[in-house]
Amino acid sequence: CGIVGYVGNSSRKAAEHSALDVVVEGLRRLEYRGYDSAGVAVVADGTISSRKKSGKLSNLVSELEANPVPESLTGIGHTRWATHGGPTDRNAHPHLSDGGRLALIHNGIIENFAELKQELLAKGVTFESETDTEVAAALLGDIFRSANGDGGDLTAAMRLACQRLEGAFTLLAVHADQPDVVVAARRNSPLVVGLGDGENFLGSDVSGFIDYTRRAVELGQDQIVTITADSVEITDFFGAPAEGKEYHVDWDPASAEKGGFNSFMEKEIHDQPDAVGQTLLGRSDLNGKLTLDELRIDPELLKQVNKIIVLACGTAAYAGLVAKYAIENWCRIPTEVELAHEFRYRDPIVDANTLVVSISQSGETMDTLMAVRYAREQGAKTISICNTNGSTIPRESDAVLYTHAGPEIAVASTKAFLAQITAAYLLGLYLAQLRGNIFSGQIKDVLADLGKIPAKIQQILDGSGPLRELARSMKDEKSVLFLGRHVGYPVALEGALKLKEIAYIHAEGFAAGELKHGPIALIDDGQPVFVVVPSPRGRDSLHSKVVSNIQEVRARGARTLVIAEEGDESVKDYAEHVFYVPETPTLLMPLLTTVPLQIFAAELAGAKGYDVDQPRNLAKSVTVE
Ligand code: G6P
Repeated sequence: CGIVGYVGNSSRKAAEHSALDVVVEGLRRLEYRGYDSAGVAVVADGTISSRKKSGKLSNLVSELEANPVPESLTGIGHTRWATHGGPTDRNAHPHLSDGGRLALIHNGIIENFAELKQELLAKGVTFESETDTEVAAALLGDIFRSANGDGGDLTAAMRLACQRLEGAFTLLAVHADQPDVVVAARRNSPLVVGLGDGENFLGSDVSGFIDYTRRAVELGQDQIVTITADSVEITDFFGAPAEGKEYHVDWDPASAEKGGFNSFMEKEIHDQPDAVGQTLLGRSDLNGKLTLDELRIDPELLKQVNKIIVLACGTAAYAGLVAKYAIENWCRIPTEVELAHEFRYRDPIVDANTLVVSISQSGETMDTLMAVRYAREQGAKTISICNTNGSTIPRESDAVLYTHAGPEIAVASTKAFLAQITAAYLLGLYLAQLRGNIFSGQIKDVLADLGKIPAKIQQILDGSGPLRELARSMKDEKSVLFLGRHVGYPVALEGALKLKEIAYIHAEGFAAGELKHGPIALIDDGQPVFVVVPSPRGRDSLHSKVVSNIQEVRARGARTLVIAEEGDESVKDYAEHVFYVPETPTLLMPLLTTVPLQIFAAELAGAKGYDVDQPRNLAKSVTVE
């Protein structure tokens, strides 16, 4: 879910902003976090006015036009990714309590809500929705009244309420009795403060207020923050004062705009040369030596690592699979990749010599965060590869290697994926350098090859016309398969995931060698099969094995769509279409071969008329387990 809060001041600069405008604009920027419903509440004239609507933010905006709220300087807003209760108007946030004088919005899951609900029902409280949020609102309202009597203190009530809540949550509340205050609480769910001039902001992430200020404050776990137009006060759940860490947001709001493309996803696909280039920038010297001083982990400790576990979800987990091939090859350290949500439930073998590398674009994915915490508890060293400055996972890790892809707005990840792979390569090379696994000349060569990748991606983008045409012609396909071997295997998985996510087409990625062990039974006349073919210059017989796999499916009627390296004439005879990518060493190939598959999915979903940026049922940052 996405959350925004605002308090302005009637004097000075802030007077230009109405709470509603700031909140709605913030929600527009945060909508990628969930779009099942949206709602706002503002405080004005001694009352709360709230509007909420199921569906996308545009529905709420129409509702606000038809049914305006009064001018106000204090407001909160929410865009929802449904957990408890379907995406209806009624289940949308805010939820009201205290006779409509208190409004609350929430991100996360309150695990003991059923028990609290019973308690409140017994007190005669009634409920309108099925959500855990309404229970939190009722609890807060009840405490506000009982503990403090009329005109109580919302901050004090919030502390008491949080002491009763279990689970993960960000809560924001406003009360008609305290018209110039927004109170927020945070446990395990994201929340940042934005500092303005005569106005202050709250957001799930900085995009919630990036149009107004670049000064942000990180909050810690289990903290309460009270903002007014001129003050920000942070405490723990028991009232002990706490300090937030201020930082400067260095990305440009324009980079979170579509820049002439039809969708954020198209724009982000085109941002990829830059995303890779920026991630490489400043991380090696002219002699081909990696300079990852930012890692701030004692190199001696890294030398002792005898096992690496990569933890991630979704697309980031596929970046992890690519990393495994590179890290094992360069460092000779056994490397496992595991979906973060599976990791801690299998009693994994982790100790002080284990290095856990988490990969997360948002840095907020709850499954990944919990896995990292578990690994730390077991004594592992943890490095986060992350795209979001100041987010939770890097903060809770021993070290972070940021990807510099810039803000990624489209729900289906593209440029963050390539940046994650790039960062993982750098980490692998750095470990190899530290441990003396490969001689420095080799590192220098790989870095030089990496440096050429941005221009090669650009070449693929520039030549994507025929691929786009093919994608449009395939908009009515029911199923598409993807095959790859070695590093082409995670690329096949990612190609299939993109198509599922945004085009809602059944798609599966397979290791090409596995096909004959079962999935080949799926091949029928006309079945489209993408095959990611490794370089013919590459190792052993990898190329010829994949060519055999193409023939196997073709012999059974498949339409083969091949991604191959420029100059590889051998595949032409077996392919209905070949899309060439520039030459590059095998281990780096995913940075190129993924791009045509992203373009294919985006173009096909666009041809179907789907909202490419906000696919159904998904959210960009899943902050529940
Ligand atoms: C969600 C998104 C995916 C993303 C995954 C991991 O499921 O829809 O696109 O790959 O989370 O996100 P992260 O922010 O941890 O990389």
